[in-house]
Amino acid sequence: AASLSSGPDLAGCRILISAGPTYEDLDPVRFIGNRSSGKMGFAIAASAARRGAQVVLVAGPVSMPTPPGVRRINVRSAAEMHDAVLGSLPADVYIGAAAVADYTAREIQSQKIKKSDQPDGGDTLTIELVRTRDVLAEVAAHAQRPRVVVGFAAETHDVEHYARDKLVRKQLDMIAANQVGCAGSGFESDDNALTVIDAERVHSLGSAPKTVLADALLDLIRARL
Ligand code: CTP
Ligand code: CA
Repeated sequence: AASLSSGPDLAGCRILISAGPTYEDLDPVRFIGNRSSGKMGFAIAASAARRGAQVVLVAGPVSMPTPPGVRRINVRSAAEMHDAVLGSLPADVYIGAAAVADYTAREIQSQKIKKSDQPDGGDTLTIELVRTRDVLAEVAAHAQRPRVVVGFAAETHDVEHYARDKLVRKQLDMIAANQVGCAGSGFESDDNALTVIDAERVHSLGSAPKTVLADALLDLIRARL
C-alpha cells in the first residue's frame, strides 16, 4: 500500500474530483447551501497530485487554497457543477466528494424577496424547489464513463444500508460512506471515519485525518485500475 512518502504511483492517471457544497441562489442576496467544507475532496486532490496523477478539481464555494499541481474549476450551483464535471470528461477516475444540492429554486428572483410581498403579509414564505441533476449517476452512465467511479454518502443514520443502495442504484464501483451530524467527524472536521463499500467488500478506514483517509482511498482505487 502507498503512503504519504510513496512515489508517483498514479503517474499518467487522470483523476476528476468534485468537492465542497453548492449554493443555490434564491435572490440577489440569499441562497440555500450546506455544511460541506470541501476538506475531504481537497485532501484527495492534493494526495492524487502528489502521487503523480493529472488532477482536475471542480470546487464549489469554499475558501481553500488550490493544492499544488491541481487544475481547479470553481463553480457555485449544482447546475454549474454538473456542466463543469461532465465537460471535464474523459477521465480514468471520477470521485464525487461534493455535497451537491438535491433541489434548487424553480426561479431565482431578480430582486430581493420582501416579506411584504408575500400573500399572507409575510407570516410564511413558500419557495418552490425542483430536483437537480445527479452528477454522479450521469458520470457513471456516460458514454465516456471513467473506469472507476466513486461516490460519497454522508448519512446521519443507517450509514451502510443507504450507502449500499446508492452504490447499486447509481452503478458505482465504490462508495465512501461517513456518518455526519455527530461531533468530531464528517462535515467541517479535519478528521473523518470512512466505510468504503464495493460489490465484494467493506473496508473500514478511520477514524483518521482526512489526509490519511485520502491516501487510503486512493490505494483502493489504484487497485482497481
Ligand atoms: N450527487 C451528485 N449529484 C446530485 C446529488 C448527489 O453527484 N445532484 C452525488 C454526491 O456527490 C455523492 C453521492 O451523489 O457522491 C451521494 O450523495 P448523497 O447526497 O449522499 O445521495 P443522494 O443520492 O443525493 O441521496 P439523499 O441525499 O436523498 O440521501
Ligand atoms: Ca443528496
